[in-house]
Amino acid sequence: MHTKQSIVQHILKNKQKLPGKQSAEAFASSNIALCKYWGKRNDELNLPVTNSLSMSLGEYGTRFTIRSCEERDDILWINHEKITDNSPIKKRLSHFLDLFRPDPDFYFHIDSHSNIPIAAGLASSASAFAALIKSLDQLFCWECTDTELSILARLGSGSACRSLWPGFVEWQKGTLDNGMDSHGVPLNVTWADLRLAIVMIDQNPKTISSRVAMKSTVDTSPLYRAWPDCVSQHLVEIKSALMTQDIEKLGRAAEQNALAMHATMMSSQPGIIYSQPETLKIMQQVWQCRAENIPVYFTQDAGANLKLLFTTEVTDAILARFPQV
Ligand code: PMV
Repeated sequence: MHTKQSIVQHILKNKQKLPGKQSAEAFASSNIALCKYWGKRNDELNLPVTNSLSMSLGEYGTRFTIRSCEERDDILWINHEKITDNSPIKKRLSHFLDLFRPDPDFYFHIDSHSNIPIAAGLASSASAFAALIKSLDQLFCWECTDTELSILARLGSGSACRSLWPGFVEWQKGTLDNGMDSHGVPLNVTWADLRLAIVMIDQNPKTISSRVAMKSTVDTSPLYRAWPDCVSQHLVEIKSALMTQDIEKLGRAAEQNALAMHATMMSSQPGIIYSQPETLKIMQQVWQCRAENIPVYFTQDAGANLKLLFTTEVTDAILARFPQV
């Protein structure tokens, strides 16, 4: 039986156990999935049922500064605000840090800055866990490979394993029980004209976490059994569209993938709906644009906000139609 602890021990077995420097700082970009990760085959190790594929948000993400701390507990600051001990976010980070303490009385002081809203379906946890693992790697001078860091970040939040690289990244689901083959792999693709714009509909943290929604969907949705086949087909289309820079093919597959994911959630018991009336309104506006030959597509994660996909050719038209992006 593999545990998070046994995987961490395996990866760090010949690495330094004490900090090699006073403090460390690292940044990781958020990533938005064009083909979503939805459902785990192993809840403890965050091993997914299917592959997924994302694009990086470049300069949008999270920066962590980390050092050891004299107090009797971890200290966490997020965007200049000290986070209280009983907040879920602090508990989640401290729990993850338990995997890396040289001894049980070793605590961390963490200063985190995100330029994206937290827990609003904008992949803030992906960039946070990726930045955290990168800063730990520097603090302890482990010199892990990006693949090892991707596996370690995955233990904090699945989608974080795709935030170790810029550009397009595929998370290979892997087949091993220990998850050592389940990590991000950067794709050798560039597409300078591709744009992703965020339509903010709700900045508030979501009421149901993606972890809880994912589990409920896998356990109770009758539609979930169709999901892996949908993903296989969408992945083929998305990868082929990236190779040929075909926005129509990319957009259709990404949009279809997001809608299929939300269909599985809606059919779980109890049903889960992240969309708000405004979300549906914007979807209709996107479809209206396409009816007028403006190639724009949407994707949606576990939140009400939408992300628009288009190319620079239509940036002006998009800004005119969606001034809020
Ligand atoms: O990594 P998590 O547990 O935050 O789950 C991410 C789930 C989605 O954002 C909905 C899809 C994805 O692939 O990022």
